[in-house]
Amino acid sequence: MNSFSFPFYNFIFQGYPEDIIITVKQGTKLKDLIKQYFEKIQKSNLLLNNFDNIYFLIDAKIITNQNEETIEEFFKNNISSTFLVEVVNGKSQSNRTNYEIIEKIKENLFSKVYKGRVPYLNENVAIKAINKERIKDAIMKETMKLQVSEEELKPYIEKFNKELNFMQKCQCENSVKIYDYYVTKDDFIIVMELCDENLNELLCRKQSGFSSDEIRNILLQLNNVFKVMNKNKISHRDFKLNNMLVKYKNSEKKEYRVLLCDYGESNQLLFENFKTHAGTKIYMAPEILLGRPYTDKCDLWSLGINIYQMYFKDFPYKGGVDLDLYKNIVKTGQSVLENIRKEDSKLKNLLSKLLAIEEKDRIDWEAYYKDPFFN
Ligand SMILES: Nc1ncnc2c1ncn2[C@@H]1O[C@H](COP(=O)(O)OP(=O)(O)O)[C@@H](O)[C@H]1O
Ligand SMILES: [Mg+2]
Repeated sequence: MNSFSFPFYNFIFQGYPEDIIITVKQGTKLKDLIKQYFEKIQKSNLLLNNFDNIYFLIDAKIITNQNEETIEEFFKNNISSTFLVEVVNGKSQSNRTNYEIIEKIKENLFSKVYKGRVPYLNENVAIKAINKERIKDAIMKETMKLQVSEEELKPYIEKFNKELNFMQKCQCENSVKIYDYYVTKDDFIIVMELCDENLNELLCRKQSGFSSDEIRNILLQLNNVFKVMNKNKISHRDFKLNNMLVKYKNSEKKEYRVLLCDYGESNQLLFENFKTHAGTKIYMAPEILLGRPYTDKCDLWSLGINIYQMYFKDFPYKGGVDLDLYKNIVKTGQSVLENIRKEDSKLKNLLSKLLAIEEKDRIDWEAYYKDPFFN
């Protein structure tokens, strides 16, 4: 067990019409694993009626209720455990999951997102499949070679692991829930809570942009997940309306939850600043466009661009090439904020602090949460 470097364990509990899979981080206490198992089965009455689960419940209680041991410690001491452990480390797992695909929701360069269903539970899920073949094609184009070695695919496996890792770390009311993940012959798969649409789609259906109050409502929700990110020193690096999902609270579609998704560009700020180019150009902070080292303040710039876009249904700065976009930002500066309506002066004020070109002049996360716009 200790020899695996993968940050998660996938526990497969057998005996249910379908296996129950619980994903936990390394170092998780056994009692917390069991707690998750109970939570999962309590979600469905169907499962509680199943005999095998009752056996397991008894078993699990005996083993774990006061058990402070971590999973690693436990398995070192109890090899003859009643449940099967599998660790996902890039091996094929396709034979153990039978999600039904209902329809395709989105297709991007590397990934497809489907609406799916969990058999027996009749619960809908979103399934994101990141296609290995598409990744290979991109590598072949880049390297001008006709074949892609396993070695060359490794960074992408690493990227998939990272996406899962950060998604897992950021789990909260306003981050899309992760249910399952695995690797098949063709794809890296993430199974998530299903949402109704993304914020960009909602914005596109509107005649004009969001009001200041609507923007406040959206941001106050997202701030919950931003705070979790800050605590874990994670930078998302791809804040955009397409990566903010909407889940309506009822059929009237007036109230909704906003959930952050797509941690594919995320990274953790540990001891040094980031240097890699990451994210979507039009939302990119000036320091990234210039190829300078940057910090988690880059997300605050992107947030500023998102807010502007929500308000005006347009982007403040445009440009196809990094340097063009950068020049445009410098040339236009904060004059783009002049058209914000007088009654929305608090929003304008916040935007002026988020869209500060020099990173040192930009507000930090603490100041952002305390901004008068939120009062
Ligand atoms: N959980 C979900 N529920 C509903 N739609 C989703 C979900 N996850 C993603 N989508 C849709 O798929 C799109 C792409 O997903 P995303 O994770 O951002 O993939 P990519 O890495 O290709 O950008 C999103 O913009 C959204 O429209
Ligand atoms: Mg995305």
